[in-house]
Amino acid sequence: MSEIVLSGIRSTGNLHLGNYLGAVKNFVKMQHTSDCFFFIADYHSLTTHPTPGDLHKSVRQVLVEYLAAGLDPDLSTLYVQSDVPEITELYLLLNMNSYLGELERTTSFKDKVRTQPENVNAGLLTYPVLMAADIVIHHADKVPVGKDQEQNLEMARKFARRFNNMYKVDYFKEPVAYNFGKELIKIPGLDGSGKMGKSEGNGIFLADDEKTIRKKIMRAVTDSGPADSNSEMSEAVKNLFTIMNIVSTPDTIEHFKNLYNNCEIRYGDLKKQLAEDVIKLIAPINERIKEIDSDDEFLGRVAKQGAEKARESASKTIKEVKEIIGIRKFY
Ligand code: TRP
Repeated sequence: MSEIVLSGIRSTGNLHLGNYLGAVKNFVKMQHTSDCFFFIADYHSLTTHPTPGDLHKSVRQVLVEYLAAGLDPDLSTLYVQSDVPEITELYLLLNMNSYLGELERTTSFKDKVRTQPENVNAGLLTYPVLMAADIVIHHADKVPVGKDQEQNLEMARKFARRFNNMYKVDYFKEPVAYNFGKELIKIPGLDGSGKMGKSEGNGIFLADDEKTIRKKIMRAVTDSGPADSNSEMSEAVKNLFTIMNIVSTPDTIEHFKNLYNNCEIRYGDLKKQLAEDVIKLIAPINERIKEIDSDDEFLGRVAKQGAEKARESASKTIKEVKEIIGIRKFY
């Protein structure tokens, strides 16, 4: 039996190049070697109170973009969290064994209390419990997530262990965070510092057309150019080379590095080349985004198929959990 890989995707905003290269591309690869579950965590996104229209739109957008990026509904179980009511049922059951103190001590909860004191809802407090339910409902072994989710994973392990201890069973596995080993790549932004994110002028999105990508890259922050040969690169220029290292051919990289080291580089040429290489990577995905976005029938089929597969696995778990807990039917 192959290992079970599961990850949840919060439905916030469009995917950028960093999300694609750092995470989604690996999901696509794992589909061939593991038993994969990928889902859109729409219940989790309710903690920030989106409008009904925005919520649906962003769930749809995530589904479209993940499919366009290569998630295959015939290889993976691809579903929307709210389509699987067994998850909320397990969430309720796990809530009985999770404690106020430990939930309040979670870093992400404390951050929320600080940054949005006007909306510290109970959903935020029990966010890690819902996340644990997401994971253990399919007995996941590995959960590919970023660094920021490691504490939530730690809690999921704790809740799984606690359930086993409480009922003296060896039922739930303890899932481990999975960071794609040494390959973990950080994609820098275009504004001269830090990671690629969603902020204006910093990110390139899979939904960007060629013109937009060119414009964004041509406007990327650089510096006044190297003064001496082989001089240290500024952060901004180093960032462009980091992206180039991933999207361009070795010859191209070598060529521009030499120009830089000889103080002959023209950043305009570097950016033009970088834009073309980024476009080569994104254009086919962008094309598929447009196709899939206009195919409601396909999206409906994917979501239904995913929900059915996910519910099959989830309802088995719920049945067994209820038996363990002692919830037995009279009829
Ligand atoms: N909390 C995750 C995030 O913010 C999303 C998520 C929800 C998740 N449930 C999950 C990730 C289960 C992995 C497994 O990115």
